Amino acid sequence: TDAQETTAGSAGVNGPTRARIGARTLRTDTWWLYPLATFVVFSGFVVFATYRAFDGDNYFVEPYLSPFYSPCLTDSCQAGSSDFGQPISWWSLSPALIILIFPLGFRLTCYYYRKAYYRAFWLSPPACAVAEPHAKYTGETRFPLILQNIHRWFWYAAVVVALILTYDAVLAFGPAEGEPDGIHMGLGTVLMWANVVLIWLYTLSCHSCRHITGGRLRHFSKHPVRYRMWTFVSKLNARHGTYAWYSLFSVAIVDFYIYLLATGAFDDPRFF
Ligand code: FES
Repeated sequence: TDAQETTAGSAGVNGPTRARIGARTLRTDTWWLYPLATFVVFSGFVVFATYRAFDGDNYFVEPYLSPFYSPCLTDSCQAGSSDFGQPISWWSLSPALIILIFPLGFRLTCYYYRKAYYRAFWLSPPACAVAEPHAKYTGETRFPLILQNIHRWFWYAAVVVALILTYDAVLAFGPAEGEPDGIHMGLGTVLMWANVVLIWLYTLSCHSCRHITGGRLRHFSKHPVRYRMWTFVSKLNARHGTYAWYSLFSVAIVDFYIYLLATGAFDDPRFF
């Protein structure tokens, strides 16, 4: 609302009720390290993920499918990579681009990531007790940031994505090319399971998930099951930011690992 709009000259840290402090911050610690690290790591991930998503190649090596390409739904998908058929034939770009909107939307609207990229990319503010350089502040009350409110809907989509990735991790126990039928395991299987566990931890520790399980209840005592779920999610929620980072790394690592296998740069160690 307009009431929330502030101008650096007259409000916010320069408001009449605030102490007159000329410096942008009085902090003497390395507060800039966190936003700087976030900026570097996120930028690196965006460059890598953009390249891989547009690549349209080297994302499937039996029995491993890259999380960037799952589910693979177009008729250009590599043979064997489409768990759910190939219902889309009109799409001529990389099949990853159709489905990445869901995990991407989920992360972009995530409460933790919002804090991280508002600080690192917009410096709004760069850290606690460090004034931001912008003259105006409207929060998330206007387009486009008001769209952050659809996070809960992305959460529903993210649960479906996590289920599909879990299915892929089960399929990762399948035989590699040339192996007999039955249960097998390679380093790729381990990496895919590590990734899917981290994806679940990230998805279930979500603030929206916490509200979905325990929000809008007047009496926890009358909803013991939801109370238990809420307690569980609340514990995970305390580490949501950590899971956000770990799961970001793990999807990139699994994709890169499959890329290395597909390009022949590395051979998957097989345990059995
Ligand atoms: Fe981070 Fe929902 S708050 S995924």
